[in-house]
Order: sequence, then structure tokens, then C-alpha cells
Amino acid sequence: MKRPALWLLGVPLLVVVMAAPLARAMIAAHATPRLQVPQGWPAPRYDFAGNPVTAAGFALGRRLFYDPILSRDGSVACGSCHQQFAAFAHLDHRVSHGIGGVNGKRNTPGLFNLAWQPDLMWDGSVHHLEMQPVAPMSNPVEMGGSLALAVDKLRRDARYPELFARAFGSPGVDSQRLLRALAQFTGTLVSADSRYDRYVQGREAFTPQEHEGLDLFRQHCAACHREPLFSDFSYRNNGLDAAPRDAGRAVISGRAEDQGRFRVPSLRNVALTAPYMHDGRYETLEQVLDHYAAGIQPSPTLDPLLAHGVPLTAGEREALLAFLDTLSDENFIHDRRFAETHD
Ligand code: HEC
Ligand code: HEC
Repeated sequence: MKRPALWLLGVPLLVVVMAAPLARAMIAAHATPRLQVPQGWPAPRYDFAGNPVTAAGFALGRRLFYDPILSRDGSVACGSCHQQFAAFAHLDHRVSHGIGGVNGKRNTPGLFNLAWQPDLMWDGSVHHLEMQPVAPMSNPVEMGGSLALAVDKLRRDARYPELFARAFGSPGVDSQRLLRALAQFTGTLVSADSRYDRYVQGREAFTPQEHEGLDLFRQHCAACHREPLFSDFSYRNNGLDAAPRDAGRAVISGRAEDQGRFRVPSLRNVALTAPYMHDGRYETLEQVLDHYAAGIQPSPTLDPLLAHGVPLTAGEREALLAFLDTLSDENFIHDRRFAETHD
């Protein structure tokens, strides 16, 4: 008699376990995200006070993000290069791949926690989240058009004028509204629910190997990839090239000491965003660790922290890789509020 009774007890439990994620996904699809500052994080840099997130504004931003209407010939959307399943990076693309199939020169970064970034882009060339979309829209090898062209197309579209009126409370399609709607979407892409986060909040345990990986990370990597955002947002040369082909930060600052320096990228979701580095030169995290162990190229601007590389034993490598895996936020990449909809 005992066995069937125990088995019966398991049935409702199983139903609850299976229904919980489903219920969350169903609520999520229709909810409007608010920018909530996760526990222990600094204050965000982007201030939504000047651009309050509304249901209609967020929905408009999401629609625009996935709509190729913003490109010159209607072939490329923001979402073509920034894919949700890759934490909004471009999986398997070394450098950006835009209009007419032409390649750009830099790797597409993941998009999350942008409201906390002081500057945007690998070289920090954009200072304000609302201004960022101007760059891909007018880049001849990305979307190939311009802000004015996009606004013009949206004004003549059958549906957008009404969606803009609903989002901003009065009729009118203009560039400021276009940029603000996009920022309501990109600025609320918060990723803070990885296993690492649950570990830090005491809600989940790490394996001994993941613990060891975290210790190694704090010892060798966290000075630049600083918790909790996993970047200190400084510009540094991590030794990729003795003579960099892309001057990086120096393109913006014009200063010799910025040659080959790039923004320290966040390592959140890093297992999902291959390939790696500003030019996408490494396909795997193993290759990245090989670089730090034995591939550091000396140059006048090499960061002193990496002068001797980061040699690791085989066991330490495995531990560090296991830790990096805990930074993947499965709820973020499956969050239906951020997915393309066809309503
Ligand atoms: C053709 C591919 C492509 C398209 C289309 C594209 N992007 Fe990007 N995006 C990139 C690349 C590549 C970078 C990095 C560029 C650099 O640093 O020089 C980038 C950078 C960004 C950043 C800065 C991220 C950071 O961490 O600094 C944001 C935000 C962004 N894109 C949003 C958008 C939006 C919004 C659109 C649509 C209006 C868009 N992108 C269209 C490839 C693309
Ligand atoms: C001195 C600062 C510094 C240290 C220390 C450092 N990094 Fe980096 N890391 C960078 C910079 C800067 C980049 C971007 C370089 C580029 O693309 O030109 C980067 C890029 C990366 C990338 C690629 C991410 C992406 O999205 O393309 C990974 C992965 C990475 N680092 C992991 C590590 C690990 C693991 C350690 C410790 C073993 C470490 N880093 C130590 C500065 C540092």
C-alpha cells in the first residue's frame, strides 16, 4: 500500500512544478517591464524619468526593434543582428552582417543592463542610450539608411502613426519619439536572474567546482570584469595584438595611450554570446582562456594586470568555465516580453 500512496503524493507536486514556469511565461508576455534595480546593484545611468515606460511605449519600442522598416531597403531589423536566444548578440557571426550581406568590422555585443552603462559601443562612441540607434540606422553596412528616412517611412505606414499617438498621448511621428520608444525597449532589458545571482542571494547553491571557479575569477578576472555587472566599464587593452588593426578607444579620444583599448565587456550570459572579443576572433571560451594563459601580446598600452598572463592548470580551467556557465540567464533569453510578437 505504501508505494502507490507515495506515488499519488508526487502527482500534484509534479503538476505544480510543471505549471509554474508556464504560468510565469503567460503573465510575462503581456506585462510591461519596469526598471527595477536588482539587490546590491548601483543606481542606473539612464534616467527613465524623462522617458517614462508605458505599456504602449514599450510595445511600440519592441515592434520597432523587430521591424526591418528601419533599414533602407526593409531587409534588416535591429533584431536581425541582436537575437534574444543569444542574449541579443549575433550567434556565430564574427562581425556584424547587415544590409546587402556586407560585413562590418566589429562583433555584435549582447544587449542587457544597458541602463547601467556609462557609454555604449566597444569604443564608447555613444554616450546616451536614446542616441544609440542612430548609429546602426545610418551605418552603410548595417541598416544603410538614416534617422530621417526611417521617420519618413513610419509616417507613411498604415499602422505606426496610430501606435505613436497611443504611446505618446498625441499624434505625431518624429525622431525623438522613435528614439525614446526604442529606449523603452532596450533600456528595460534587464538580465539579473542567472544561477550566479541566485547563489549571491542565497537562493541556490554552487557545486564545489563552481565555487573554485568563482574564487579564480575573483583572483584573476574581476578587477576588470567587476561584479555585479561584470564590467568596470573602463577601456583596456587585454593583449590581443601587438599592433592593433582597430585603434579602439583611440578612434574616439585621439590619444596614443588609448590604442587598442576597448570597453571591458560584461561577462553576463557569456556562454550564450559567441564569438568573442571586439572582432569576434575567438569562437569558444576555451580559446579565450588560451589567450589569457599564453597568448597575451605585449604592447605599450597592454594593461599591466595582464603582463604575465593568467596561466591555469587543467582543473582550474574547468572550474573557471563551470563558473562562467553560471552567468547564463535562461529566464532572460526566454522572457516573452522581449520576444518578437505579431499582434
Ligand atoms: C548589422 C547588425 C546590427 C544591426 C542591424 C543593429 N546592430 Fe546594434 N550593434 C551591432 C554592432 C556590431 C554593435 C557594436 C558596434 C561597435 O561597438 O562599434 C552594436 C551595438 C549596439 C548597442 C550598444 C551595446 C553596448 O553594449 O555598448 C546597442 C544598444 C544596440 N547595438 C542596439 C541596436 C538597435 C536599437 C538597433 C536597431 C535600430 C541595432 N542595434 C541594429 C550590430 C547591429
Ligand atoms: C586588464 C583587464 C582584464 C582582465 C584582468 C581580464 N579581462 Fe577579459 N576582457 C578585457 C577586455 C578589455 C576585453 C575586450 C577586449 C577586446 O575585445 O578588444 C575582454 C574580453 C573578454 C571576453 C570576451 C567577451 C565578449 O563578449 O566578447 C571574455 C570571455 C573575457 N574577457 C574573459 C576573461 C576572463 C575569464 C578573465 C580572467 C581569466 C579575464 N577576462 C580577465 C579585460 C580584462
